Amino acid sequence: MADKYDVIVIGSGPGGYVAAIRCAQLGLKTACVEKRETLGGTCLNIGCIPSKALLASSEKFEDASEHFDHIGIDVKPKLNLKKMMAFKDEVVEANTKGIEFLFKKNKIDHLKGHGEIVEAGKVKVGKDTYEADNIIIATGSDVASLPNIEIDEKKIVSSTGALELTSVPKSMIVIGGGVIGLEMGTVWRRLGAEVTVIEYLDQILPGMDEEVRKEANKIFKKQGITFKTGAKVTSAKSGAKGVDLTLEPAKGGDEEKLSAEIVLMAVGRKPYTDKLGLDAVGVEMDERGRIHVDETFETSVEGIFAIGDVIAGPMLAHKAEEEGVVLAEMLAGQSGHIDYNCIPGVVYTWPEVANVGKTEAQLKEEGVKYNAGKFPFMANGRARAMGATEGFVKILADAKTDRILGAHIIGPSAGDLIQEVVSVMEFEGTAEDIARTVHAHPTLTEVVKEAALAVHKRPLHI
Ligand code: NAI
Repeated sequence: MADKYDVIVIGSGPGGYVAAIRCAQLGLKTACVEKRETLGGTCLNIGCIPSKALLASSEKFEDASEHFDHIGIDVKPKLNLKKMMAFKDEVVEANTKGIEFLFKKNKIDHLKGHGEIVEAGKVKVGKDTYEADNIIIATGSDVASLPNIEIDEKKIVSSTGALELTSVPKSMIVIGGGVIGLEMGTVWRRLGAEVTVIEYLDQILPGMDEEVRKEANKIFKKQGITFKTGAKVTSAKSGAKGVDLTLEPAKGGDEEKLSAEIVLMAVGRKPYTDKLGLDAVGVEMDERGRIHVDETFETSVEGIFAIGDVIAGPMLAHKAEEEGVVLAEMLAGQSGHIDYNCIPGVVYTWPEVANVGKTEAQLKEEGVKYNAGKFPFMANGRARAMGATEGFVKILADAKTDRILGAHIIGPSAGDLIQEVVSVMEFEGTAEDIARTVHAHPTLTEVVKEAALAVHKRPLHI
């Protein structure tokens, strides 16, 4: 038997590594188990970070190819995909090494290998068993597929394979018009692929504000993505030339055949709990295969906790991180709190899409009376100067108290702009609070202020 810890975290993604750092900061003797060679989990290795590197690089390529001419810069860019991928790999390496450094700095032991809980308080890693007062499961999620469709990561790829293609496919079919489908579809469209997105529902980006979804569909269509909504894929067969797909209307009807060089499967992710020993120790799952936890993140077994994608809630890195911090503080005897209504979501396309809080549809369903204020980027000087005038900011505030209930943005830097509203919501602030706050001119943030003014029907620049 090796050392005894206060906390062993299983998984080193954003949930796990942040939980480990916060535990160590609070004086708890902490170890983190990771089976991948590098730390950082899906997000740093094969998710958020490499996809953002490719999104940033492909955006520059498209800007140089399509948009520089308009502002008086004559260039003819040539794509060097190998170098673009090498840059992405460098970014990933710098980030994962960064976590190694943070582990050393905080004296967190990195236990390399697959972690299995053998009983409450005991984790087996390889041949060794380690003891801990508390175990945190932060094993994240894995790609989901469709029945009878096998992801081979060559022709039928998940986001992992889509980050590693060695040449630009002539055509790509994306199954799923959610976050991954739109981000990765955008990367390969910008680099030259003909991209078709097939979405089961009647509109892309489920769960988001209706107007934002429509606007996103319109903008991405204009950029060259073909959408087939209300359609479900029933089979996909890989052949020598590419992949043959069969789809049919979601509501039933005649079959259609499509083919493409590459198919990207982006129909969601599922909690990853393989070979963790949960059944044997009696950790209960919910009806959707997620680990069931109480409000302190404790599972049905005392001393075993879970955070991030393996439990309920949005599968987002920042949600997992916050849960990690809150849990660490509770384990150290402090109190912790997370407001699930204040978790922003961002889609890193161009323009970006971001949201927080309730949509109009949700408020209507809940019978809440609200005022909506909307302001377009078109009427903002800075957006015009940047040549980035598509989209709008929409703020929803309680009709009686003016408290902000939600915000929905499609437009340049939406992912950064949403944060102002998130902070105001955390402080239970109102639309009037934003409207009366000085915003620097000329900045995109003025669109948020104007949307807040529009809640009270007094925008200044429209
Ligand atoms: P998603 O849940 O965002 O989208 C999946 C889409 O596939 C949905 O629109 C769904 O209606 C559609 N779909 C399901 N079955 C289908 C079928 N048979 N045929 C056609 N369409 C079908 O899942 P996605 O994009 O795979 O992302 C997985 C997770 O990763 C999400 O929870 C997402 O939030 C997270 N993520 C977050 C990112 C970000 O914050 N920027 C980036 C990438 C992923």
